[in-house]
Amino acid sequence: MLSQFLKVMTSSIMKKQLMGVTGLLLCGFLITHLLGNFLIFVGPDAFNLYAYKLTSTPLIYVAEAVLLAIFLTHMGLAARLTIENKMARPVGYYMTQATGRGLTFASSTMPWTGIGIGVFVVLHILHFKFGAHYDVVVDGVEMRDLYKLVVEEFQSKAFTFGYIVAMAFVGVHVSHGFWSAFQSLGFNHPKYTPILKVASLVYALAVFGGFASLPIYCFLQGVQ
Ligand code: HEM
Repeated sequence: MLSQFLKVMTSSIMKKQLMGVTGLLLCGFLITHLLGNFLIFVGPDAFNLYAYKLTSTPLIYVAEAVLLAIFLTHMGLAARLTIENKMARPVGYYMTQATGRGLTFASSTMPWTGIGIGVFVVLHILHFKFGAHYDVVVDGVEMRDLYKLVVEEFQSKAFTFGYIVAMAFVGVHVSHGFWSAFQSLGFNHPKYTPILKVASLVYALAVFGGFASLPIYCFLQGVQ
């Protein structure tokens, strides 16, 4: 009986830890993606050259496969843990009591913001990765004009607004997810956990503000 209980507990703790690791890896991806996208502010050549260099190495296929595996693991585990927790405590009490992490707007909406981000990522890849192919020559090399595509997509008010809402979902999700991942990995300290919570909020605001600034900038490019 006890061994059975320990087995279940261990596996659920392992699942939480794996969710924490994959969540933190996705947080790292968000920062690199954001920094790369900031080249839109530098200009078309800088952004197109960056995208070209990134996608013209065969290693990109490995990177994409790893990224996909991380996304799928994170979402699959999140779905499983949410269902398991709901079944164990149908009154929605698990978030506060079982984890001791307090119930905030961000923590109680994690499954919903997560689903929203999942839908966003699929549409996002369809729009940009598999969207229209324009060509441009930079430094004598022919490459995809992703800058044109991005600016063109953000000429629509609805599209731009939809993106800003999606970025708010991302911001709310990581404002809880970032520090919560450390807790899942066993880091819990009376002095440093409050600092981590502030860092989480700063990170979330930077991700939201940084990503939201891009559609706004591209939209305004067309208005001028
Ligand atoms: C305004 C914000 C954003 C802009 C302008 C943007 C732009 C782009 C562009 C242009 C691509 C295609 C790159 C290529 O094919 O070479 C791309 C790919 C991608 N983006 Fe974003 N992105 C934004 C926000 C996000 C966010 C918030 C996430 C995650 C939650 C995300 C996840 C991805 C993923 C997973 C890919 C596919 C990467 C690959 O397969 O190599 N993006 N993005």
